[in-house]
Amino acid sequence: MHKGLFITLEGVDGVGKTTQALLLKAHLEQKGHEVLHTFEPGGTPLGGRIRELLLDPQNKELSSMTEILLYAADRAQHVHETVRPALEAGKTVICERFVDSSLAYQGYGLGLELDAIRTVNHWATGGLVPDVTIYLDADPAESLARTHRDRIAQRTLEYYARVRAGFLAMAQAEPQRFRVISAEGTQEEVASRVLEAVEGEV
Ligand code: TMP
Repeated sequence: MHKGLFITLEGVDGVGKTTQALLLKAHLEQKGHEVLHTFEPGGTPLGGRIRELLLDPQNKELSSMTEILLYAADRAQHVHETVRPALEAGKTVICERFVDSSLAYQGYGLGLELDAIRTVNHWATGGLVPDVTIYLDADPAESLARTHRDRIAQRTLEYYARVRAGFLAMAQAEPQRFRVISAEGTQEEVASRVLEAVEGEV
């Protein structure tokens, strides 16, 4: 059991997770929380190097299994070095992406075994599960237009439709943890939906 509150933000590329994470952080700090904002992949110095391997468009030979394991390795280091110590110190952690991203992108998106991804990640994180997961939902065709084209973002719109459907399926399966928020509208409109969604928890 950890003392702090663990909030994750999920969504397809370009949906505005960083903006919303920073707005939520500012709001919670005003309410007196000590907040750590972090992200995956690359939330630690070692993870930054793993992120480069994962996103470099030149790494065309990277196998799907290697991809899953590199995300899990990044996550293991991030939980060990950053997330768990902050939670144990009683901080609120706002993390962009966590295990649900691996399930959505590598599981639902690439069609790889969901149970294997769950098992590897359960081991990598020591079974850490977010208290609240905010899923920012948008049509990938619109949000992708706002991204740079790294190795993952070069995938097709059909791929992203599967990723989105995966997030929605997970949200439906775990309604007590997930909050599905429409990412349509201005940053302020989305931010107020996010605040409403976490209201009962903070
Ligand atoms: P970012 O753009 O949110 O920093 O994430 C980088 C890319 O990595 C993005 O396309 C989503 C992808 N990703 C996965 O495919 N699986 C994962 O487990 C994570 C954390 C990210």
